[in-house]
Amino acid sequence: MLVDAQHINKTFLGSKVLDAVTLQIDSGDRIALMGSNGAGKTTLVRALLGFYHIDSGDLSVLGHDPVKERVEVLKHISFIPQLPPPVRLSIEELINFIGKTSDLDPRQIIKEAAKMDLDIAEHKSKPFYKLSGGMKQKLLIAIALSRQSDLLIFDEPTANLDPKGREQFYQLLSLIPEERSTLFITHRLDEIKALTNRMIYMDLGKVVEDEKI
Ligand SMILES: Nc1ncnc2c1ncn2[C@@H]1O[C@H](COP(=O)(O)OP(=O)(O)O)[C@@H](O)[C@H]1O
Ligand SMILES: [Mg+2]
Repeated sequence: MLVDAQHINKTFLGSKVLDAVTLQIDSGDRIALMGSNGAGKTTLVRALLGFYHIDSGDLSVLGHDPVKERVEVLKHISFIPQLPPPVRLSIEELINFIGKTSDLDPRQIIKEAAKMDLDIAEHKSKPFYKLSGGMKQKLLIAIALSRQSDLLIFDEPTANLDPKGREQFYQLLSLIPEERSTLFITHRLDEIKALTNRMIYMDLGKVVEDEKI
């Protein structure tokens, strides 16, 4: 089991953002996580990544505590945030850094990026934060796909992509090996349906529906 969450609770400023969430993620799960804005989707993901402490309940990722053993947990999960972080490194520095810390060949990232028509060589000396929204997203996706993580989490990944970028992105996702798990936070079920085998709906901090499709 990749993720085991048992009755986890999280309160922000007196309001319950995660309300007794119980959820398991197994290898091979391809999840569409849906629900209106404010439902707690991003908070749930941030808890899995060890960015937030939970108030109560049990949460483990591959048997590890995401807060106490965050380095270990992040070796197994790739996360594409909704808003790309304001990284000042150049593209070249960034992919070399990721290559070192994730023990992978930066050329792999370049190869994945090229599949989405992002030419790293052309932009290598630009700082990451100066790329367009779509280019940042593509680079983050290329990094996540190169790291060969057990679980890839995408928080509304196509929000900044144009229709062509979106199509290339879905094409790439269809190439992710079966044994990897994916979790997409999305409002576009129609686009992602063919790539998922499980739908989870959240509302007001609760999982209100969880079905295999
Ligand atoms: N760091 C934070 N501090 C205070 N409130 C937060 C924080 N993060 C999220 N929230 C609140 O938690 C609720 C759920 O947010 P979020 O998990 O981002 O929802 P979703 O991703 O489903 O749109 C919202 O009401 C949001 O304002
Ligand atoms: Mg969100």
